[in-house]
Amino acid sequence: MLKIAVLISGRGSNLQALIDASQKPDYPARIACVVSNVAEAQGLERARAANIPALAISHRDFKDKPSFEKAIDEQLTQHGVQLVCLAGFMRLLSPWFVDRWRDRLINIHPSLLPAFPGLDTHQKALDYGVKFTGCTVHFVRAEMDHGPIIAQAAVPVLPNDTEETLAARVLESEHHIYPQIVHWIAESKVNVLDERVFIAGVNSPQSPLLNPALTD
Ligand code: GAR
Repeated sequence: MLKIAVLISGRGSNLQALIDASQKPDYPARIACVVSNVAEAQGLERARAANIPALAISHRDFKDKPSFEKAIDEQLTQHGVQLVCLAGFMRLLSPWFVDRWRDRLINIHPSLLPAFPGLDTHQKALDYGVKFTGCTVHFVRAEMDHGPIIAQAAVPVLPNDTEETLAARVLESEHHIYPQIVHWIAESKVNVLDERVFIAGVNSPQSPLLNPALTD
């Protein structure tokens, strides 16, 4: 059983998807602890409701970033964490932390990386006029929203989309993809080779997705 930690800063809907998955008896991972850098984060309530240790570690309480990250690292070690999942954790982690958890630290981001890293991804996708956006789960490297990509979900952008409707459609795909990837990692199916990810025993779709769909 793989012990995971989920790091959050807010709502925690991806955390909820991981909680729901991990409560199924045949799921090969358990959430050992949830850490939020924001004490009021809704996700902490979700964790407590599921009887998962929920810790608020505010970056504001530390003199610098390394001491904040050391405090998180200590908790992860204490809880026997083997994989760290960032789920809306809105602090950029420094290279020492990223190196310490190399290939054991993953992030979900609401765009098809490398397009639209950072904030306001859905508005940026609408402004650019892309016909697909989506979400990406990747191993974390020191640069923001960067690292070997494990999987992506492509989500069509519709003509009448607003930032809200697009965000909701992408979020639904996030909730599907994140628990599945943790499942694969827990089964030791996910390998990084020369900064590319290979997953054992999975298939790729054979046909292209088109948006708009062909008319004849
Ligand atoms: C999610 O859409 C996640 O992909 C995004 O924050 C949201 C958190 O929602 N993460 C990033 O933008 C990281 N660069 P949640 O708290 O409901 O899971």
